[in-house]
Amino acid sequence: MAFRESGSKIIIKNKEQIEGIRLSSQIAAKTLIAVAPFVKAGVTTAYLNQICATFMRDHGAKPATLGYHGYPKESCISVNDVICHGIPGTYELRDGDIVNIDVTTILNGFYGDTSKMYEVGEVSMHAKKLIQITRECLRIGIEQSIAGNHLGNIGYCINKHAVANGFSTVYEFCGHGIGLNFHEEPEVCHIDEKGTGPILKPGMIFTIEPMINAGKARAKIDKKDGWTARTIDGKLSAQFEHTILVTDGVADVLTDVDGSF
Ligand code: MF3
Ligand code: CO
Ligand code: CO
Repeated sequence: MAFRESGSKIIIKNKEQIEGIRLSSQIAAKTLIAVAPFVKAGVTTAYLNQICATFMRDHGAKPATLGYHGYPKESCISVNDVICHGIPGTYELRDGDIVNIDVTTILNGFYGDTSKMYEVGEVSMHAKKLIQITRECLRIGIEQSIAGNHLGNIGYCINKHAVANGFSTVYEFCGHGIGLNFHEEPEVCHIDEKGTGPILKPGMIFTIEPMINAGKARAKIDKKDGWTARTIDGKLSAQFEHTILVTDGVADVLTDVDGSF
């Protein structure tokens, strides 16, 4: 394994920054709740993006994805075999689709980032299991986010759970430090080695956002749009994401609104 970052570039946030990031994160989380009733068969992903964009702006936040390295929309909406970075557009949702909506807010210069899965109508048992295991993978990652623990244990435990359930973990896309910028150190891999990487400290804020595949782990990027990442075998992929704060006790999930994560 190559030399690994010691963690010296990881920003430890102060109280004021934490409260700013918390407020931004809460708007991101509420956006995902607000869009939920609109996720149904027949609506386009562009329409869902519009709902998200309006909600963020109505609450004083700027959508961080718009214009980020040229990304064209206010959210990412990834359906079925799309792993992440699906661009909202003319696709109409169908019964049985599984959908990830990912939003990132900027409020007073502070960033919050979260995503979750939605089911359109009745989805297969297999899809339900993939979604449930992916949700559990995020929870397991959050449980590992304790001061004194190695960062690598997050990905080690996430991947172990995915594999034990017959799924695979995407390694091309990772969680990330966040708060004063969209993407900061550290990189939070969802498949990693036990006991490696920086030691977690109170005041660190990063996302955990496992992408779990029903088939092979590999991703391929759409050649035409340069963004959409799909599974190479066309099988389903699911993702959940939270922005979390390392504390002296259990991690504080900044993008959780009602303790339901
Ligand atoms: N929100 C995504 C993440 O979780 C990043 C999207 S970047 C974009 O890190 F440019 F694709 F929007
Ligand atoms: Co993220
Ligand atoms: Co995100």
